[in-house]
Amino acid sequence: MTPATIIARKRDSHELTESQIADFINGYVDGSVSEGQMAAMAMAIFLNGMTAEETATLTRVMLETGVVLSWSDQSPVVDKHSTGGIGDKVSLVLAPLLACCDLRVPMISGRGLGPTGGTLDKLESIAGFRCDLSIDEIRTQTDSVGCVITGATNELVPADRKLYALRDVTATVPSLPLITASIMSKKLAEGLDALVLDVKYGSGAGMKSLDDARKLAQSMVDVGKLMGLNTSAFLTNMHEPLGRMVGNTVEVNECVATLQGQGPADLRELTLGLASDLLLSIGKESDENAAREGLARLLDSGKAYETFAEMVQAQGGDIDATRPLAPQTEIVAEESGYVEFIDGEKLGVAVIELGGGRKFPNDRLDHSTGVETLVNNAEKVTRGQPLFRVFAEPEQVDAIRPLLSAAVGIRDECPTERSLIAERLG
Ligand code: URA
Repeated sequence: MTPATIIARKRDSHELTESQIADFINGYVDGSVSEGQMAAMAMAIFLNGMTAEETATLTRVMLETGVVLSWSDQSPVVDKHSTGGIGDKVSLVLAPLLACCDLRVPMISGRGLGPTGGTLDKLESIAGFRCDLSIDEIRTQTDSVGCVITGATNELVPADRKLYALRDVTATVPSLPLITASIMSKKLAEGLDALVLDVKYGSGAGMKSLDDARKLAQSMVDVGKLMGLNTSAFLTNMHEPLGRMVGNTVEVNECVATLQGQGPADLRELTLGLASDLLLSIGKESDENAAREGLARLLDSGKAYETFAEMVQAQGGDIDATRPLAPQTEIVAEESGYVEFIDGEKLGVAVIELGGGRKFPNDRLDHSTGVETLVNNAEKVTRGQPLFRVFAEPEQVDAIRPLLSAAVGIRDECPTERSLIAERLG
């Protein structure tokens, strides 16, 4: 069948066979299917969707365009993937925490996408930290330290690299089957025994509603199951930023505190929830409370921090080197009342304006900038009380004042608090 005939089948809402999907994707990677033909196919999938079986086949075919990591029987290999949200820094705490439980975590992460910060950008606040490990370095460090957090290499899922760039310029990123295949092929390439997904919803996440987040989570869990990977998903609230810090150095500092048994309650709670889920999934623990208590002890004793420091050192970083922070300015409440919302997306945009995120793909970041939220949702505040601490030069602070004013709502009535973890699937 020619590429045009396969496109026509999807355009006319027919289900594609395994060989049609394989011919098309392999042809795209080897250049016999053109960018224009792949763009037409991505749009046909965007408009007509795919069945769970087609999505699983697309995922497998994409996965097989690259290397799949293989591991010795030493200990289970696990990972977490988050769909991204403002202030989401769980990976930095979770990977070393799980490594302390004798699990291996070869975490392949990304850079900032729109207002959402990127794990790699945050880690590069640490002097010398390398995010470009080779496949051999990933294998060796995962076996010796227990965890790695690094960027994707050219050998892992080359089909996704090419297709993601095309989707970005053809308005086909927000397609459930394409997102599912993109994320799951990369996670499957890590050669995992278990995966937990943190699918975010709310103002600070890509998915604004719980319903849309549930559909994406179910699609990824279904593909995980069809591909034989033990997969579960949490649906978590991103109406407010996670933790108090948004930025790069400030988020690393917040993670260091959490790894030492301090840090904000929501970050600790979510990390313990996701980590204990993985311990239960692979059968290392059978009781959730016991799992959480054991994990909490690893944070409180500083053991998880020691493993984080080991990971940083293995990746060329100096955890003791000073991490510069920009000057601090407090932004105060203009009225009294209850905090009705803290709009994470606006805080993410504010950090981009401060140079802590990218407007263009090749922008250099200023890691020293950021915003700290000083109040919680539903908290009673009085006029003049500090709401945010901004880390930036004074003239930059003036430029983002309107954004920060719009990022917080203060009302007379006390709003109901939302739970952090709304649901678990899988
Ligand atoms: N992140 C990915 O890795 N892929 C997508 O398609 C969307 C978000």
